[in-house]
Amino acid sequence: MTVTTSSYPKARRIKFRVEQHDSRDKYFVDGDMVFSHFVAGLSGGFPPGEESFIRSVRRVADKVTDPLLKKRVTGFVGQEAMHGQEHRRLNDKLVDMGYPIEWLDSPEQQQRMLALEQRLPALVHLAMTAAAEHYTAVLAQRVLTSDEIQSIPAEPEFWNLLNWHALEELEHKSVAFDVFRAVGGTEATRIGVMLAMFALTVPLTYGSLAVSLWRDPQARRRPLRVAREAYSLFRGPIFRGLMPELAKYMRPGFHPDHIDTEALLAHWQDELFGENGVLVDHLK
Ligand SMILES: [Fe+2]
Ligand SMILES: [Fe+2]
Repeated sequence: MTVTTSSYPKARRIKFRVEQHDSRDKYFVDGDMVFSHFVAGLSGGFPPGEESFIRSVRRVADKVTDPLLKKRVTGFVGQEAMHGQEHRRLNDKLVDMGYPIEWLDSPEQQQRMLALEQRLPALVHLAMTAAAEHYTAVLAQRVLTSDEIQSIPAEPEFWNLLNWHALEELEHKSVAFDVFRAVGGTEATRIGVMLAMFALTVPLTYGSLAVSLWRDPQARRRPLRVAREAYSLFRGPIFRGLMPELAKYMRPGFHPDHIDTEALLAHWQDELFGENGVLVDHLK
């Protein structure tokens, strides 16, 4: 696919009013304990994860010679940095509400992450980013496509933040992938790294969610409710059919742009940031 000048990802300077949410209203996704813990955990992992994505691209950035790809890298870095900043503000609120997510972004965890990255070859680190970007693109596409997901009641400003993040994930979904290819990343490395991450997806998702719920005294007192809500979450529109979509990445020759999200992007760019966009007043 030819990338035109109009399709560079561009960072938007934006601020969400996450502090307006009443911290006593803990289960902000439809009053659902499990769903709320799941979203809080996801948000908790974004800032350190996105910083690692940025570092992986910067490690090889001096080898990128194509001027267009360089501009796309700048847009990618700017968008991910902004996501980290706003998710950190949301995460402070979530910690206030009682979610045990602080450790994910702690200095100790950052040190562990940096030490791991230093042991990884640059192309493996970048392949992890490209694979993770496929996860975020698949989730973003689901969130922005599904009326069933969009109609889940939740704190509106948290929804705004998630929709903005989802939109930008689609805008830059192929940047890390194209950098990986441009600096000599092979199909064997790309697919091998994804295979390892794919194998860890279910145990990590279930495990971290279980720990998060176990640390919530209210959830511990309501095991039947937790079981019912967990069943609904994993049978629901976020997870239904998710693994086969993630697995598409492992096909030889796969490229993120093979999944056409152009019309979806155009719709949401207008919805959020067009002339009457609902988030125009959030831009700084
Ligand atoms: Fe992001
Ligand atoms: Fe991303």
